Amino acid sequence: MTIFSVQSTIFSRASVVLLSSNGFKRFSFASSFSSSAVYSPPLPKMKKRRYPIVSAVDIGGVTISRNDVVRDDDPTNNVPDSIFSKLGMQLHRRDKHPIGILKNAIYNYFDSNYSKKFEKFDDLSPIVTTKQNFDDVLVPADHVSRSLNDTYYVDSQTVLRCHTSAHQAELLRKGHTRFLVTGDVYRRDSIDSTHYPVFHQMEGFCVFSPEDWNESGKDSTLYAAEDLKKCLEGLARHLFGSVEMRWVDTYFPFTNPSFELEIYFKEDWLEVLGCGVTEQVILKQSGLENNVAWAFGLGLERLAMVLFDIPDIRFFWTSDERFTSQFGKGELGVKFKPYSKYPPCYKDISFWISDSFTENNFCEVVRGIAGDLVEELKLIDQFTNKKGMTSHCYRIVFRSMERSLTDEEVNDLQSKVRDEVQKKLNVELR
Ligand code: DAH
Repeated sequence: MTIFSVQSTIFSRASVVLLSSNGFKRFSFASSFSSSAVYSPPLPKMKKRRYPIVSAVDIGGVTISRNDVVRDDDPTNNVPDSIFSKLGMQLHRRDKHPIGILKNAIYNYFDSNYSKKFEKFDDLSPIVTTKQNFDDVLVPADHVSRSLNDTYYVDSQTVLRCHTSAHQAELLRKGHTRFLVTGDVYRRDSIDSTHYPVFHQMEGFCVFSPEDWNESGKDSTLYAAEDLKKCLEGLARHLFGSVEMRWVDTYFPFTNPSFELEIYFKEDWLEVLGCGVTEQVILKQSGLENNVAWAFGLGLERLAMVLFDIPDIRFFWTSDERFTSQFGKGELGVKFKPYSKYPPCYKDISFWISDSFTENNFCEVVRGIAGDLVEELKLIDQFTNKKGMTSHCYRIVFRSMERSLTDEEVNDLQSKVRDEVQKKLNVELR
């Protein structure tokens, strides 16, 4: 079981196994990676009606214009306006936001245990090349994470980073050897209380030299793996107090051996991070062939949901004062007091799917229409008839975190969903 529902990290082989029977992956830690899809054609561009069009965003002082990221002229481009508008939000750089408070608490742990030897980066642009996001960290050419179904492409060679590991190689090449990289990451994904197409990760990286492990008399890989585990167990205690934890072996393309750390929290094992000893090729590419290194990637929303008792991942994006006023700089672990919960509204939709149908594309259509008013999207029934046609029935849960929705409004959303689904996804409504 993992903290992000149970979806395993996109890059871990286990994620394929962890698919739940309805095809929706559950919660993983470092990520929200979808593992279901093979290849799916890009979703035809939506008319982005619901979202006010943001024409430019500022990322760490650099202005990025909408037309360079949401591109109607490029068939590979699958970035909707709703995602573009998130690029400049930088929740991790807000000291009074749970994500920023958590980042600072992790910084404090590293500063006090490693006498400030870890450099910190939190304003690297989320727009990266496919080389940075995939090739530099040895993600195989046919890996599912490269598909248009899972990743937001700006063009065929540029993506919105889907993990902070995208910065490992570039920082190593620039000579950095101990660092923490925090940033927003983007993944096309399912819809429920623990999945959102934008979330935040922190990457940690630490390079060792022969004198470090020679003294210990240990083999370099064992030395790095033990150091890594000690560091992360300390971090988990720093954040959670004395908790039960366990290590689980896993697979990532960029590390060997690879592990996940789980902590026992509220009667469940939660996956809180992915990590491992960095593949030697990655170090070699940066001229560090005589060294060994460890790395980790942790998902900040997952941790923050547990630490602050935040029940729905959409809360992180609200500007409602009843949420924002509950958190203060440096106040780790303040428990969120839910304000009145508004009633949900359930709507079902059934259709015959086509070969190109994917759930991520369906989720994107629904989010494009309902935005944060959609709380969950669940496959509740499926069957194949004698002619070989497959029917899916989904339940859509609409709920605002800020107000009651009217029947009229929900009916209108649902009718738009029905229209768009037919037009964009090549399915036949039942
Ligand atoms: N990038 C991985 C993910 O998002 C998480 C991760 C695993 C990062 C292992 C690492 C690592 O640096 O060593 O699923």
